[in-house]
Amino acid sequence: MPAYQPLTPDIAAELRLIVGDKNVIYADPEKLEDFAHDEVADKKLAHMPEAVVRPASAEEISAIMKLANRERIPVTPRGAGSGLSGGAVPAEGGIVLLVDRMNRILEIDRANLVVVVEPGVVTNDINAAIKEDGLFYAGYPMSVESCFVGGNVAENAGGGKAIKYGVTGRYVMGLEVVLPTGEIVQMGGKRVKDVVGYDLLHLMVGSEGTLGIFTKIILKLQPLPTARADLLVLFRDVPSAMKMVPLIMTNGRIIPTAIEFMDRLSVQTTCKYLNEDLPYQEAGAMLLIEVDGSSEEQVDREFETIGELCQANGAIEVYVATNATTQERVWAVRRNIAEAFKVFSPVQSLEDIVVPFAQIPDLIPVLDRLSAKYNLLMPCYGHAGDGNLHVTLVKKPETPLEQWEDLEHAVLVELYKAVANLGGTISGEHGIGSKRREFMPLVMDETLIRLQKQIKSAFDPNNILNPGKIFP
Ligand code: LAC
Ligand code: ZN
Repeated sequence: MPAYQPLTPDIAAELRLIVGDKNVIYADPEKLEDFAHDEVADKKLAHMPEAVVRPASAEEISAIMKLANRERIPVTPRGAGSGLSGGAVPAEGGIVLLVDRMNRILEIDRANLVVVVEPGVVTNDINAAIKEDGLFYAGYPMSVESCFVGGNVAENAGGGKAIKYGVTGRYVMGLEVVLPTGEIVQMGGKRVKDVVGYDLLHLMVGSEGTLGIFTKIILKLQPLPTARADLLVLFRDVPSAMKMVPLIMTNGRIIPTAIEFMDRLSVQTTCKYLNEDLPYQEAGAMLLIEVDGSSEEQVDREFETIGELCQANGAIEVYVATNATTQERVWAVRRNIAEAFKVFSPVQSLEDIVVPFAQIPDLIPVLDRLSAKYNLLMPCYGHAGDGNLHVTLVKKPETPLEQWEDLEHAVLVELYKAVANLGGTISGEHGIGSKRREFMPLVMDETLIRLQKQIKSAFDPNNILNPGKIFP
């Protein structure tokens, strides 16, 4: 018997009864195509759904999951589709379950410093809504203006401010989850401490839409920092920029909010894409360093210390941005790099490697060696402060397209092995999804992969929820 059954017109009619006629897309290839891919440039990961459903409540999602189990139809949850590992792509067809209608901020509980949201809220909108209350949610993925918070939890999104504020999981206090079998459960709550049973809440975080669908998310907030400064520091080359990362924290004794890295090609490509100008001609590499806090004096002192330290260590130039407009301009360049490369270099593989941050200088010669050996471009940018770099494998024009797939595979195997040797791994924030699942055994013990598969089948005995992801 095949694992899954086709989604027949009768089943589509049942889905319409659950979510309403206008919230089902079925037998309409043109509209369905929008949900066949995420932001991964490589179209070989794309797969058409048979239907897209847009539920408005946990109860509707529960009914969809029960139907899907009965009829053996895969369900793939999807937020904004801004993911970068194929996580929201229906690898086995079936239903794409879109949470875009569940986009309410349900409660701002100022006294407990928490916010309760639905999964389809755009991450940026959380901060816009709580700003007036002097509160702040620290999640800052680069797609902050478009991604949904549900996807952030599913991927345990990291982003630009992890060095000081950590990643999404640090802020998830509670979840309402529809399990793959359709039961609705509550995990965690507004309490800061809780050691009752296994930490299933944090098993959900980063489960890439394979263990449950989040319908309510309780997030921890903190007081809004009132002072901030951003430094754009130019270096002659990549190694000089990278060696600053540990120095700022050890010699400078400062944990900045962000230390973001951009090489020349990244800045140049994005400036062209945004019609911006940054002084990239002079610099082989740049760091974007942010400090924030609750007093101007502290922030001034910190950015001065960092600026002096960079200059003492060979920086060509240090620019300081203390007004919001300039800060946003510089961050927009950094946030748009992936999109710019997707437009200008569509034959590519956007990577998400992570090493202990003091090991970054040891990684740079590996990138230089691989790009020379295999004759490809390997622009690099990312979250230097936490060791998470988005090196991108880009085909050179002279390489025939037929050779690219094998070449890309060979580079990835060498790169991943080198990263593992440095104490790193193959994804810091984008996830495994379908993009990296064949490489899992390079970095994870067989026993641990087996245990995770057993967890998956305990939650999802029919393998209905987001099949074809994570595991080789
Ligand atoms: C970034 C995305 C690609 O950091 O994660 O720009
Ligand atoms: Zn990133």
